[in-house]
Order: sequence, then structure tokens, then C-alpha cells
Amino acid sequence: MQDIKNMTIREAEIRIEQLTKELDNHNYNYYVLSQPVISDLQFDMLLNELIALEKEFPSLLKPTSPSQRVGGEVTREFVKVIHKYPMMSLGNTYSETELSEFDERVRKMIPDEKIDYVAELKFDGVAIGLIYKEGVLIRAVTRGDGVQGDDVTNNVKTIKSIPLKLHGNHFPDEFEIRGEIIMHRKDFERINDDMVEIGESTYANPRNFASGTLKLQNSAEVARRKLDCFLYAIYGTSVSFKTHYETLQKAKEWGFKISENVKLCSSLQDVFNFIDHWGKKRDSLPYDIDGVVIKVNSFRQQEELGFTAKSPRWAISYKYQAESASTILNSISYQVGRTGAITPVANLEPVLLAGTTVKRASLHNADQIEKLDLREGDTVFVEKGGEIIPKVTGVDLKKRKSSHHPVEYITNCPECQTKLIRSEGEASHYCPNEDGCPPQIIGRLQHFASRKAMNIDGLGAETAELLYKEKLVNNIADIYDLTVEQIEQLERMGNKSATKLIEGINQSKAIPFERVLYAIGIRYVGDTVAKKIARHFKTMDKLMNATFEELKDAPEVGEKIAESVLVFFKNESKRKIVDRLKENGLQLTISTKGINAPLSEILIGKTIVVSGTFEKYERDELKSLIERHGGKNGSSVTGKTDYLLAGADCGPSKLEKATKLKVKVISEDEFTNMIKD
Ligand code: IVH
Repeated sequence: MQDIKNMTIREAEIRIEQLTKELDNHNYNYYVLSQPVISDLQFDMLLNELIALEKEFPSLLKPTSPSQRVGGEVTREFVKVIHKYPMMSLGNTYSETELSEFDERVRKMIPDEKIDYVAELKFDGVAIGLIYKEGVLIRAVTRGDGVQGDDVTNNVKTIKSIPLKLHGNHFPDEFEIRGEIIMHRKDFERINDDMVEIGESTYANPRNFASGTLKLQNSAEVARRKLDCFLYAIYGTSVSFKTHYETLQKAKEWGFKISENVKLCSSLQDVFNFIDHWGKKRDSLPYDIDGVVIKVNSFRQQEELGFTAKSPRWAISYKYQAESASTILNSISYQVGRTGAITPVANLEPVLLAGTTVKRASLHNADQIEKLDLREGDTVFVEKGGEIIPKVTGVDLKKRKSSHHPVEYITNCPECQTKLIRSEGEASHYCPNEDGCPPQIIGRLQHFASRKAMNIDGLGAETAELLYKEKLVNNIADIYDLTVEQIEQLERMGNKSATKLIEGINQSKAIPFERVLYAIGIRYVGDTVAKKIARHFKTMDKLMNATFEELKDAPEVGEKIAESVLVFFKNESKRKIVDRLKENGLQLTISTKGINAPLSEILIGKTIVVSGTFEKYERDELKSLIERHGGKNGSSVTGKTDYLLAGADCGPSKLEKATKLKVKVISEDEFTNMIKD
């Protein structure tokens, strides 16, 4: 790499162009095709080079540069934009009969012609209109009221599957493409779990999460939340294709993410088959859908059919019934999490819903109870959409009796009776009795030992609770004072499991600093933030003594996190705990061996393809481990591949190929065993 400072502007321009092209391609391979060619680390190096060049030569920074995807722009107020083509909604149907009626209406208006339909998934997300001029994304607008929406371009630019510049040059000069911004269930659960863990309020489902995220003012936070976008309709006078299906195929060539699950149907029966198929298989998709959209394929026929006041006559949606039931709300109880956050839970008269008996449902927070105006004894509606957790969606007011009184939210902790606090702007109430409230203490122990944190073998949730109840541990540092003799005395424990637990505890001393930092449970410090902070400060000592300003200078750290870290380390008892962890030999500095130092030669000559998401490691960490143990990373499964290291959501084509070529498929645990010395 040439020294940036000595470059002429012309040289910089050429390099920027080259980097832009490469990065655009890699984004496309990764986010649209799901077939990454280079590692995330290599990608970041190219991106950093581009950012450095643009900083040195600001006049060369283009709005379509891949550097713009990391966000950073802050939108104080979203500007309202009038839609050139109103954003209409679709008529809904819930049965085959209603769909047949739609088909009859279409055939009546267009007699004696063959009608083809296109059946598509109905993504459960947020509608977006993207406007492209000469191949460049110039604006992204939300639906709003259908007539005018909000300009959310800065935020949308961070969505990596949306092209900032189109591929090739066979696209109309100016057009609008519409689609749905969604969040994958896995990302939703991961980020929502992190939010619970770090004490932030959560969202009820991926759609709400996506919609809330799109309206954030800080686009860097949007970038972190991993939204995705499927496109499904093009509007533009100069679009000169004959059919919707063909247009979608073209849009795919221009670089848009178009669903693989679009079916051209030559009969209504084909449409029914598509609906049946996805009705059964919708849970296997990585994102939520709430139905199927059926569109007349021919644009000429669409034009003949036209619109009603609200929706097109050439399209309709078939909605899968959200499975719902009504039952009695017996009582509301309150759970205390490890951060002290209180979560109200509805205790329901057991009811059968989507094949399982539901007895409890989360109510999130006090506002939610107020919004639903819940009263104990009420008959409530419970629903289970694509999501796993059932929710209370409303009250059957016809069945309300005068004896049902509004819920009075608790004022004291149900576990330790301390007065609860609710700070300005916080959705949840908190119990401030950190060191004396049992579920908080147990929760912290469980979090510390959990897989993503110290991953202590043998120290599951129940054992953590048992150790606390038997007064063997009261905080995370006490774990390292445990002895086999103490543990084997406990109920359900013998010498063997006690020895195993102590072994697990000892092994955890090698866990890297960033995970220790996550494990100690500082509010708002999730695993990603912990990693960034650890890399920035390098040692626990430096972090413990950092000022507010120094903390705020660290990547990903805003005022809220900085304040929380400061408060944590101001606490004398927390400092003592950290000192004891240090005395016990835990890793409290970033590994001095360097992140790329070789570890062993155990994988020499082996090529491994990594695909999917994993529990203990990020995909990139696994790739780096492969290299550090002497192996090679492959991007696709070929005859030369030795192993396919498959996580959740592993690419099905990779799995298929591995089976065909008899390549051994291994799990994360099998891999970690392989490299264990
Ligand atoms: S086509 C004129 N296709 O559902 C409307 N919409 O209830 C054209 N949606 O506003 C919309 N998946 O937000 C279309 N494959 C799909 C869709 C889809 C989800 C949403 C979209 C739309 C709403 C209609």
C-alpha cells in the first residue's frame, strides 16, 4: 500500500475508485448473494484504507462511497417527502374462497385472456421507497400516511444489501423501487437479548425493531443493528418491461436483493400450492412473513384492472392467521433481572395456542400494562405470530366486570422489598439493591458463567443458584475460591461433577480480556461494546481509571455507556471484585501475543469453509483461529475442502455440496475440540 500522505490527488482518485468497486462487490457477495469471498477482517482492511484516503482527500468523497454505510450522519428531524406514486396498501384475504373471488373479479374484467400470477412472500417489516437517478440511490422514503413519508436516506444507506450504485448500465434513468425493510429473527433475538442483558428496553418483535431502528437519529446505531431489505415492485414511467416477473429478474441484475421465493403461477391452483407450502414452512425462514402477496403478472393487464381508492385491483394479500386465543388473566407477577430491571409477566389460565399450552406471557413494562388497560380477572387475547414468545394483544371488554380493578404497578421489589426507581426516559423500573437482591446476584453469576461470557463448563443456571443458596458464593470472584470438597457436599453433586466444575473454572482463566469485560456485567456493555472497549483501552487498569471524556472517545461509547462504566468502577466493592479476579489470574489485558500470532500447527494442510452463525465465536474469530492454527480458509465447498464448519443458518447449498462431495461437516464444538491442545 502506498503511503497516503505522498499520493497525488490523481493517484488517490484511482485507488478510491478501485477500492469502491471492490468493496461494493464484496458487500453484494455477502449481503445479497450470501456468498462472501473474503474474510470480514480483509474487508475491514480495505474499508479502512478507503476511509483514510477520503479523510486525506475530502473532495474525493462521494455520497455513494461504501464508507458511507458505516453511518455517522445524525438526522435531527426527518424531512417529509411527498410520494410520486402514492404508497397504497393491499386488500387482505384469509381464505381460499376469498382468493377465488379475487381471481373471478380479475377474470371478469379481462375476459378470454390467459392470466398469470406472481406469488411472493409478504414480508413482515417496514415499507420503503428507494429512488434512483442515473443508477445512484438519491433518496429513501418511508410509507408515512401513504401520501407523504419521511426521508430516511442516511439510515437506509447503512443497509448493506441496498445498492448505493447499480450494476451494469441497463436501468431506467430515474425510477423508484419499493420493498420491505426487515430484520432477521436471529439478529433480532441476539440484539434484543443483549438489550435485556445490558438493561435496555426491548422491542416486541422484529418488525417493531426494524421500524424503531429506521427512525433512529444516529445512523451509526442503525448500521450496527443489521437491517436487511427485499425489493418487490418498480415504479417509473420509463420502465419498459412487459411483466412484473421479468422486472424482478432485471432488478436482480441491477444488484437488488430479490427474494428467491417468487413463483410465476399459471393457475390459481399454483397460487394455493405456494400458500400451503409457505404456511407450513414459514418457521424455517430466517425472517418473519405474515402472508403471501399475489400479483397479476402482465403490466398491460394490471393497467386494465387499475385501482380502487385504496389499493390496486391487480394484487391482493393472503394473510396467515396469527394464531390467537382468549383466556383469563389470573394475575401479574414481576421478575427481577440481573440488572435489577423489573419485567411484569401475565399469569394466564392455561390455553392451547398453536400447538402449545400457554400459561405466561411477557408484558414488557408498566407502560404496556397501562396501554392495554389490563386488569386482573380480565379476559384477554393472546397471540402467537411467527414469533416464539406469546403476547397479550388486548382485552375483551365485553367480559370485563366491575370487580376488575386497574393494575397498580408495584412500588417495591418483589424479592427484597427495596423501593423501586424509574429514571427519566427509562421504560423499566429498577431495583437498586444490587448487592442484596438475590435474583440480581444469581443473575450476575449466571451471566458470568454463560457461554458467551466465561463459558464455565458445569456451571449452568441451576448450579449457580445452588451455590448462592448454599452460601458458597455471593459474587463472581467467590467462584474462584471454590474447592472440590465444598462442592461435592452439595445435593446432586458427587466428586466427579465437583472436579469437573473446578476444572471448568480453572479453564475459564484463559478466556480473553474482552469476554471477561463482558462477563463482569457492566450495564449497557454488551459483547460488541466490550470488545471495542477492550481493544481501545487494552488493560483493565486503564479502563478502570479512565475519565468520562476518555471513555467517550472510545468507539461505540456514547454518554450513556460512559456514565455506566464510570459508575461501575466508582463502586468500591466492584473494584475489589476485579482485583480478586486479577489475583486469580484472569485475563485483564488484551492478549500480548498479538491477534494474529500463530497458536499451533494442528491444521496445517487443512482447508476449512466456515458458514453460518455460531454461539461461542463470531465467524471471523473462527476464521482467524483456523489461520492461527495453520489451516486455510476456503470460500466455497470444493473437492479440496477438508471440513465444512457449519453453524446455525449455514448456507443450504454449502451443506448440499458437502454431502455430495463427502466433505465432513463439523460443529463449533467439534472444531474447538480439534484445536484444543
Ligand atoms: S406489493 C400496491 N409485495 O405489505 C402495494 N407488498 O399490505 C404494492 N409487503 O405496503 C405492495 N411484502 O409494505 C408487496 N412481496 C410484497 C410484500 C409487500 C410485504 C407489504 C408492503 C405493502 C403491504 C401491503
